[in-house]
Amino acid sequence: MDTAHGRLTKDGIRIYEQNDFAGMAKAGEVAARILDEIAVHVFPGQSTAEIDRIITEKVEAAGAKSATIGYKGYQHASCISVNHVVCHGIPGPKTLKDGDILNIDVTVIVDGWFGDTSRMYVAGKLGRKAERLIQVTHDSLMRGIEAVKPGNTFGDIGHAIQSYVEAQRMSVVRDFCGHGLGRVFHAPPNVLHYGRAGTGPVLEEGMFFTIEPMVNLGRPETKVLADDWTAVTRDKSLSAQFEHSVGVTADGVEIFTPSPAGTFHPTYTA
Ligand code: MF3
Ligand code: CO
Ligand code: CO
Repeated sequence: MDTAHGRLTKDGIRIYEQNDFAGMAKAGEVAARILDEIAVHVFPGQSTAEIDRIITEKVEAAGAKSATIGYKGYQHASCISVNHVVCHGIPGPKTLKDGDILNIDVTVIVDGWFGDTSRMYVAGKLGRKAERLIQVTHDSLMRGIEAVKPGNTFGDIGHAIQSYVEAQRMSVVRDFCGHGLGRVFHAPPNVLHYGRAGTGPVLEEGMFFTIEPMVNLGRPETKVLADDWTAVTRDKSLSAQFEHSVGVTADGVEIFTPSPAGTFHPTYTA
């Protein structure tokens, strides 16, 4: 366990130092660049195992380490969650069909710092409902990020996301949340994507965490399949997710995982 960085709040949230932002930005950039470069490999007929194989190669080529290979027994460099899969989809031989939407989630370790980001892709032609879902999910993440500044609370982030999503008549998944990260993959706090303004721990400069809302076209309930990883919507409705790693600055937020190519959104088609 690394104790060399910063201090802990009473809620057990680590406060990192000024210099630590650069390490996070470097790790975040590696992860984001891989997500940029993978876009051309997403098309109908492609298998998610092949996408993951290419990601594994890119992680190595960047001189980084995959945070997910070996994590609680997980064996892949990415999670690939197609259509009604909410998160933690396991790459496999099944091939993408025209109109499938998918989230690709990559976490790398660079110099001991964790960079965790995910975004949406489409194989072939994007359908109208899927397009709306993806837009709302992306915008909900950005609204959550806009609520990040010292003095606001984690409840403000959740409230910004939930109120926006529900006004669009979509639902926020409750069963999975964002998380603190830094020198470790998952740390306090749980970053809920729903909640009430003004509740929860107060945001302080030097906190590092992810925001990663999962939004469903139907009901919010999920279930985990027998493989113990794949989470799906109970009602089989489409689900989308976007994730950034962020840090609280003196007057707002630094996004550690912006897309170098500017293709975080709109959903890129090869
Ligand atoms: N990257 C995921 C997250 O956003 C975690 C994946 S853990 C795995 O927290 F083991 F499923 F890869
Ligand atoms: Co995450
Ligand atoms: Co992730």
